[in-house]
Amino acid sequence: MDIVREARKLLLENRRVTSGCQYTVPSGDHYPYQWLWDSCFHAIVLAKLEPEAAKAEVHSLLSKQFTNGMVPHIIYWTPGILHLFRWGVEGTSSLTQPPMLAYAVLQIHRQLPDVPFLRSVFPQLISYYHFLLTERDPHGHDLVSIINPDESGEDNSPRFDVPLGVSPGISLKEHLAKRTELVDRNRECSFDAEHCMRDFFWVKDVLFNTVLVENLRALAEIAAVLKEDEYQRSLTRSAEDIASAMRERMFEDGVYWSTMGADFKKLKVATWAHFVPLFAGLYTQAEAETLVEKHLRDPDSFYAPFGIRTTSKKEAAYRSADVDFSWRGAVWMAPHWFIYRGLKRYGFVKEAEDIRSKSIILLDRHGFRECFNPETGEPFGAHGFTWGTLALDMMEA
Ligand code: GLC
Repeated sequence: MDIVREARKLLLENRRVTSGCQYTVPSGDHYPYQWLWDSCFHAIVLAKLEPEAAKAEVHSLLSKQFTNGMVPHIIYWTPGILHLFRWGVEGTSSLTQPPMLAYAVLQIHRQLPDVPFLRSVFPQLISYYHFLLTERDPHGHDLVSIINPDESGEDNSPRFDVPLGVSPGISLKEHLAKRTELVDRNRECSFDAEHCMRDFFWVKDVLFNTVLVENLRALAEIAAVLKEDEYQRSLTRSAEDIASAMRERMFEDGVYWSTMGADFKKLKVATWAHFVPLFAGLYTQAEAETLVEKHLRDPDSFYAPFGIRTTSKKEAAYRSADVDFSWRGAVWMAPHWFIYRGLKRYGFVKEAEDIRSKSIILLDRHGFRECFNPETGEPFGAHGFTWGTLALDMMEA
């Protein structure tokens, strides 16, 4: 497959314009709206192909920002079936997703410097990250919380089984029902984190906080370009405060674990989130080497013939092939991209190349599908799913 040509074609096919806003849907058949972290992935890829479309993607996301700064995880630009899930207020969800926005904006600027674009989005980015650092950290722990598993981007990941009160063997359908129930509870507490956390679901997630660290650094870099020195200093400080708090509260046995509740109980389910802190450089070089050797390359846990399992094969929740797959084991392209970036950061050239080539093999054989059976490569879920286009950002030497 000519990956550049096919990626460009898919992103064009999935492009929509509604009310003057241009955006890309993750999949025309399954996901006909705009999603937050998906749009950030699109922007990262489009930055290389068509910078103006990348900027449009970001502007569309920001056009529905709440007055408190939150950027919703879904924008329902057009009516449709998923409205039934009622994730929140009219027209958008009331949840957010891993905050990849600043990183995406910085990539756009790096590809083709555009200071007026940075200036046009900077106040809204500040307001979004400020919302996360304050409203999502009401007790000043330097770790932000999610109030629903969907905010992690990994809807049915077993990392959240205990706080959600479900068993490892739960089906995809039952899981969705549980999360929808939680949205009703979230509505009772008005999506106000302090109350929603205390009463219903209180998780400090490794992936979400890692993404936040790297994005605060990206925003600090944007602030530096804009000569916003005070912002640059405070954003850098916030990033490092979160990194230290993650180390203090989440690190044990050589890996990072998400936590739940006021007493930071570790959620000891082994998922690919172990590798995400590589993306933000949160492991030392020696720790990273042990992590790669002991976990990433272990065929009995994460290392599969067709990529990196999103849940360790050793977990009771692990599923590869049945209808309940999804984040309980399947290979997804965004996780591959995060891990690839993390490995490159530490100089694991061979391992990064392995992930890149396995991603290309899956795309070659099956096209742009939602996720894949790690053992056989068999594709699952949505067709024309955009995450595979991230392979374009795994191309450099
Ligand atoms: C699935 C994924 C989520 C993604 C959405 C749209 O729900 O789990 O991360 O944002 O699809 O692609």
